[in-house]
Amino acid sequence: MTFTVEVDVPVPMRDGVALATNVWLPDGPGPFPALLVRTPYGKDDAGLYGNPKLPDVFTLVEAGYAVVAQDVRGTSRSPGTFVPHTHEGPDSVDTLTWLAAQPWCDGAVGMWGGSYMGFSQWQAASHGVPALRAIAPVMTSADPYAAPWRSPGGALSQDAVLTWSTLAALRNLRRGPDEGRGDAGALLSGLSDPRSLHEPLPIDGRAVVTRSLPWLGEVLAHPERDAFWQEIASTDHGERITVPALHIGGWFDVFVGETVRSYRMLRRRGGSAAARDGQRLIIGPWSHPDGTDLGTYPDRSFGLAGSIKTAGITEAHLRFFDRWVRGRELPEDTHRVRIFVMGADEWRDEPDWPLPDTRYAGFFLDGGGRANTAHGDGILTPDVPTEEATDTFRYDPRDPVPSLGGTVLATAPGSYPGPADQAAAEAREDVLCFTTPVLERPVEVIGHVTLVLHIRSSTPDTDFTGKLVDVHPDGRAILLCEGIQRVRYRKSLTEPAPLAPGTDAELTLDLGVTANVFRSGHRIRLEVSSSNFPRYDRNTNTGATIATEGADDVLVAVNHVHHGPAHPSRLILPVSERPASEETRP
Ligand code: BEZ
Repeated sequence: MTFTVEVDVPVPMRDGVALATNVWLPDGPGPFPALLVRTPYGKDDAGLYGNPKLPDVFTLVEAGYAVVAQDVRGTSRSPGTFVPHTHEGPDSVDTLTWLAAQPWCDGAVGMWGGSYMGFSQWQAASHGVPALRAIAPVMTSADPYAAPWRSPGGALSQDAVLTWSTLAALRNLRRGPDEGRGDAGALLSGLSDPRSLHEPLPIDGRAVVTRSLPWLGEVLAHPERDAFWQEIASTDHGERITVPALHIGGWFDVFVGETVRSYRMLRRRGGSAAARDGQRLIIGPWSHPDGTDLGTYPDRSFGLAGSIKTAGITEAHLRFFDRWVRGRELPEDTHRVRIFVMGADEWRDEPDWPLPDTRYAGFFLDGGGRANTAHGDGILTPDVPTEEATDTFRYDPRDPVPSLGGTVLATAPGSYPGPADQAAAEAREDVLCFTTPVLERPVEVIGHVTLVLHIRSSTPDTDFTGKLVDVHPDGRAILLCEGIQRVRYRKSLTEPAPLAPGTDAELTLDLGVTANVFRSGHRIRLEVSSSNFPRYDRNTNTGATIATEGADDVLVAVNHVHHGPAHPSRLILPVSERPASEETRP
């Protein structure tokens, strides 16, 4: 293979700032279709060229695409100040316009890249640039409030916010004046010792980060989904998006809820038939950080098929871009969706998401009112309970339930994302466990998981959390998906409403998405509590601004979950009744 690379081409933006850009051209006279990636992590960094979650650049060039990699404003070799999200819309538009006008470009451009590199794809797509023909967002979000910075229930994604901001502040330090370098030690120690990063209250006022990245202060100052967030949410402008998307996600990725929500949003509201019908969705048993895409975790391995290597990421990009950027006529795909189904530990092709034959089945919370710990009396049953009961626990923000696996971002010692055993959480009195009897037949759960809780609290605000767990015959309680609802946002993310202490309320929790066969011999378990820390920030229970409250401000909440015929607290599972995959397993 031969190609040419031109490094640090200055691409002018509308305000005169020129962004550093590398241009890889295939051999031959051209002009070529182009594939653009915009990154804050360094266009020259090897991470962009050997990351198994992303397409292989050399293969793209060999296939006849010009590959264009740009440092976003204020990062690596591009001048200016890095303010996350703020410039990505206009700078993407200006780069696409410049690209389409180059003599070596045939005027058709696709965008690709993961995580932050996906934010600018969504923003570019909602600006409607004619040259842009398709996007391929990998493990990312079109609504940065919902993920990664806060959550659909309004809690702060503390682990993601503080870990990522600390890393971004460190990168900014390198560009700043020498006197700032003294902060490097403190920033690094926050990364190597996550307790020192997460535990201090208040969360606000982390000067060591905000000195280099003032944006963190802005995020903390906007707990509601106000104009600050709405302006960067492409999900709010689906009808403006006319290009199709290849979405790639991981069941244990911090972004996965938004990966599928973006797909659904475009299916319903995309601004063209191509955007609505041309999409593809691929989800495997992976989590976010590099090196966690083999599908092998300390408490659960999904076998060789779980590795991202089996998913054909580069081939999927090429086929998608050949169809939508190059405009090649290809045989119609018979499926839009390819998902790894855990439990069956196999890949499946599906026509759409949610799977068209999904039945939403209620599993009711039941028991005598002592569901605390995995050894309590909590029951999960498809039958509507006949007796009323209430389970109660004390939630002390100074002693929160620790996040064990799940969609955490950090991979510090003792904390890793993914399907971790929840035994240590389930031994706590502040964790309610509701479990089915041992299953006699497999139950296939593929789709969006929701939890309805009838609650009461002694405080004006608090949180309720839910986790869906697969209890294996050997006792391992393996986490599948999880969510949180901040009580003040139970009606609206823009207009918080305190709850008068001692009054009842109904909450609906978004527990995210999964694809899992609960095999016979296993049990389905729901855990309910009021914290999941540091995945989410701790509610201080006072109803005041959480980010500014110190350790002495917090209140202890006495929280209740009612269940019974008048209070049908229930887990709603997307069940697909297919011939049991268990029998077909090798
Ligand atoms: C990332 O680019 O990997 C990333 C961006 C925002 C939050 C978490 C991860």
